[in-house]
Amino acid sequence: MPRLTIDGREIEAAAGQTVMEAAKDAGIFIPYFCWHPQLSVPGNCRICVVGVEDKGGEWVDIACNMPVSEGMVVYTNSEKVKARRKATLQFITLNHPVDCGICDKAGECTLQDYHYEYNGERSVSVDAKNHETKHYDLSDRIVLDNERCIQCTRCVRFTREITGSAGLAMGNRADHSLVRPSEDGAFGRDAYSDNVIDICPVGALLSKAFLHKARVWYLKPTASVCPGCARGCSVNLWHRKAEWRLRAPGMRAAHESIDRVTPLENPAVNGPWICNKGRDLARVFDRARAEVAMLKGRPTDLEGALANARALLAAAKRPVAVVSSWGSNEELAAFRDALGARFDAYVKADHEPQPGEVLEDSLLIRADKNPNTAGARALFGERPLAIPREADLVLVWGEGFDFGLVPAGAKTILLNAWLAPENGHADVFFPVSAQTERSGTYTNFAGVTSAFSACFPKAAGVADAQALFPLLARADGGGE
Ligand code: SF4
Ligand code: SF4
Ligand code: FES
Repeated sequence: MPRLTIDGREIEAAAGQTVMEAAKDAGIFIPYFCWHPQLSVPGNCRICVVGVEDKGGEWVDIACNMPVSEGMVVYTNSEKVKARRKATLQFITLNHPVDCGICDKAGECTLQDYHYEYNGERSVSVDAKNHETKHYDLSDRIVLDNERCIQCTRCVRFTREITGSAGLAMGNRADHSLVRPSEDGAFGRDAYSDNVIDICPVGALLSKAFLHKARVWYLKPTASVCPGCARGCSVNLWHRKAEWRLRAPGMRAAHESIDRVTPLENPAVNGPWICNKGRDLARVFDRARAEVAMLKGRPTDLEGALANARALLAAAKRPVAVVSSWGSNEELAAFRDALGARFDAYVKADHEPQPGEVLEDSLLIRADKNPNTAGARALFGERPLAIPREADLVLVWGEGFDFGLVPAGAKTILLNAWLAPENGHADVFFPVSAQTERSGTYTNFAGVTSAFSACFPKAAGVADAQALFPLLARADGGGE
């Protein structure tokens, strides 16, 4: 284990580490653009320069590609280092436009941050900036601004080293270098392409779905879990801060919708990546919500629905339940504790793979398109779904159930978070909270349990399934 000194602090590094890695592990910050812990080291941006002392004095070199050695003395902030860093920033910004005012990356741009931290001065160049493609259609999902690109090659390396699509490349040379997609359209088909938006250190790669939608400082992230497949990637759901509430009438949708989704780094589940389906969770969560309880399509309140559901349960001789693989562990446990002895319970897949969707791959995506199949099966077993002909009451929790399986004459109780035609056909319908309106945990295919938190309040007429099940178990009958 080599011992070295960084900024006067003696630290022990792991064998084979670079100065960048050793400093990071010790909590000492060295700036970087092209370096990324999951990618190869091209050493092309030169912002990570540090001073290294040897017998001949201090020399300056890049930390990301310099192996540690025993007795090494490193300075991250000496006058020489500061001067070199400043010159590097002047160089990097020679052709970079000063259009932060219209750039979606403003507020979370590394170049912006480093400019203020390490340079802060006007350009020393008297030459006009190069003009490149300002709006290059990189794919259906991503737009590229070549003027903002600092040629760090992170995006190119991501497609070669992480997903293997090799969908991006760097063409031309020097200050005419341009990121371009490969001609076979591989980048457009890369199921993880949107990760390049996050790892681009500047605003060169932008999400079309999020383009000019909100300044990032209007938004806040809520830690959550992607329900798109059994991987259960950790994600941040970004939504509008309460203090930036829009006060115009009819703005509820703007306050209770997901503006963007980004990965929440979790080495046990997804590392720093998510797939594009996870980025599109607004399409799942922002669907029209069911907010009114119903009896055969006639609106009622939650008390009315409860009384009727209890009466159906009291009268049933062979009640069967089909529980949701989108239910949280806490909700599933509440069902088992309150109603598990009364119902013969099966687990269903709420969502099946959609046409054109990647079924499974070796990076993250799993064939099971539900987040908590493992949690549900741990409580209710592995039996394939088969409703017995004698069932006289079927409680269905969640989406994806074929109501053709309900035996003739059997009554139905349905719990669903979304508006759907089948809601109006159930004898009793309960609108229940969506994942964005409650907290809980899911257990993924590998047995890792991850937590999600509420982003938005639920509507007044909506029930929490976890609270509903004990109420339903109260055997006091009644109803219409
Ligand atoms: S587009 Fe962004 S990530 Fe790609 S090379 Fe340019 S600056 Fe780097
Ligand atoms: S791999 Fe699965 S859990 Fe992860 S982001 Fe994609 S759909 Fe969501
Ligand atoms: S981070 Fe070291 S050269 Fe770019």
